[in-house]
Amino acid sequence: MCGIVGYVGSKQAAEIILEGLARLEYRGYDSAGMAVYDGEKIRISKTAGRLKVLEESTRGGETMPGVLGIGHTRWATHGIPNETNAHPHFNKDETITVVHNGIIENYIALRDLLKKHGYEFQTETDTEVVAHLLDYYDKGDPLETITKVLHRVEGSYALGIIFASHPDTLYAVRKDSPLIVGRDDSGCFIASDVPAILKHTRRVFYVDDQEIAVMKADDLAFYSIYGERIEKEEVYVDWDADAAEKGGYEHFMLKEMNEQPKTVTDTLSPRIRDGRIVIEELNMSDEELAAVKKIHIVACGSAYHAGVTGKYVIEGLARIPVEVDLASEFRYRDPILEEGAMVIVISQSGETADTLAALREARNRGFRVLAIVNVVGSSIAREADAVMYTWAGPEIAVATTKAYSAQLINLYLLALKMAHVRGRLDDDELVDMIEDLKCLPQQIELLLGNQKRIQRFANRYIGAKDIFFIGRGIDYSIALEGSLKLKEISYVHSEAYAAGELKHGTISLIEEGTLVTAIATQPELFAKTVSNIVEVKSRGAFVLAVTTEGNDEIEKNADYVIYVPQTNPYFMNSLAIVPLQMFGYYVSVGKGYDADHPRNLAKSVTVE
Ligand code: M6R
Repeated sequence: MCGIVGYVGSKQAAEIILEGLARLEYRGYDSAGMAVYDGEKIRISKTAGRLKVLEESTRGGETMPGVLGIGHTRWATHGIPNETNAHPHFNKDETITVVHNGIIENYIALRDLLKKHGYEFQTETDTEVVAHLLDYYDKGDPLETITKVLHRVEGSYALGIIFASHPDTLYAVRKDSPLIVGRDDSGCFIASDVPAILKHTRRVFYVDDQEIAVMKADDLAFYSIYGERIEKEEVYVDWDADAAEKGGYEHFMLKEMNEQPKTVTDTLSPRIRDGRIVIEELNMSDEELAAVKKIHIVACGSAYHAGVTGKYVIEGLARIPVEVDLASEFRYRDPILEEGAMVIVISQSGETADTLAALREARNRGFRVLAIVNVVGSSIAREADAVMYTWAGPEIAVATTKAYSAQLINLYLLALKMAHVRGRLDDDELVDMIEDLKCLPQQIELLLGNQKRIQRFANRYIGAKDIFFIGRGIDYSIALEGSLKLKEISYVHSEAYAAGELKHGTISLIEEGTLVTAIATQPELFAKTVSNIVEVKSRGAFVLAVTTEGNDEIEKNADYVIYVPQTNPYFMNSLAIVPLQMFGYYVSVGKGYDADHPRNLAKSVTVE
């Protein structure tokens, strides 16, 4: 869960690497380092803490001249975050250096073996074995050396490698961790993600598992782990570079929340034609879709919460049974997948290790996997049978907002399409529901206009120790996400409960003044949730209710009410989640935290 950047060409490498790493800090930010070949030897500079410490210590790269270099921004897995464990790592003679994103799973066995051969280890990292293994196998041909090492290491990796013996060449390889190669007139780049090199080039190659890239200023070639040459297609990336900037907002999270109306429009519009839903990328006929007997949705974190909403919506509209699994559970629970089942994995990054493993598990058993993914060309997107992209653009803040909103849209579209082909919705009903969907962007815009009011309310709770979220049905799935948004960036303990379940234990935690956020948007469950509000009120809770316009009677029981506009109840999550995102954000800001970079978290979880 780290970011890597590298460059070889005619320009100064250090500056390019630092700029690129700055765009990748969302991948990890507990330490950083850089290696540059200075014309005689490889020099390394490493620092603990955020990238700006490295920038300062190298005076923006000035102290590290050279046209070949690699850099790394780290999120610790093996070994505490400090200068020693920061990448790059050297071999014993300091002639080979490596940066790594991933986990070498058999590093203990390799380390013991290398120690027997006289190698001494300076760090606690798994990565250092790679530097020493490269040294062990090095007979003067780096490509051959790398292929030998790859046959010994197990686990996941994206590696950038420099050999002092080949000072005009940058080497890179990946397996189960993201890596791209870029090219411009000056030379070649490597990076964990496209935004890192967008300033320099839009000409990109997506490196596949166990492919090795060999790059010089004026040459680029790809090889298999058997050393055979591979031809790869160059892809032109047309992302808007500005989309990855903060655009005047204090945090990426705030910017991304405010982008939700556009995200919803971008994800929805291309799939609506003449009152019908067209999802060409499914590559399934209406008959095939109608024949689906069961759906398994598999994801992690917020994507899982989107999946829980998806279950209510698909089951409610299309009457297809849906099971939702956390990917980390699905992959090891030997799930029962029966003929006619369809598996849907959901992931913003497309790189989440557990979700990728779940996808592979399903495919290995012969099941078709549809991926709902935001990052084009990511591992999950490439390995799935079909991809229904969310068109949210790059999401930088660790706490997802706009990508989650786009995931909901894709799930609604699937539910409506399936309901229609199964005859559960007639043409007119479908048209009406599509009209409701089309109104969502404008309604979200309206809710975003409440920022000041929600900030004032949030400021009252910056000292809170525990906050509870309750709801029933779709409102419960909204509670799950509202609670995660709050806790991950504000560090306030928070739990989401199915409102009817409170009295089976959790209600004992309610004390005088405890904030309970009750979501009550579902008409058929409204009265039930109000009863639960009364239960917590009578135990001293302060109740914030989120409900739909017109439900004014809730004011008799709740202490503070946020109204969201009317829409079809199935689509309520898209509206009710907006004030809850803002609440989490403003509690975090009120406490003086960096909402974009919550402690202990990273944007893309590429380890188990
Ligand atoms: O990239 P993915 O959507 O697969 O990531 C899944 C989770 O790690 C992610 O949603 C996480 O829970 C976010 N930090 C939530 O804001």
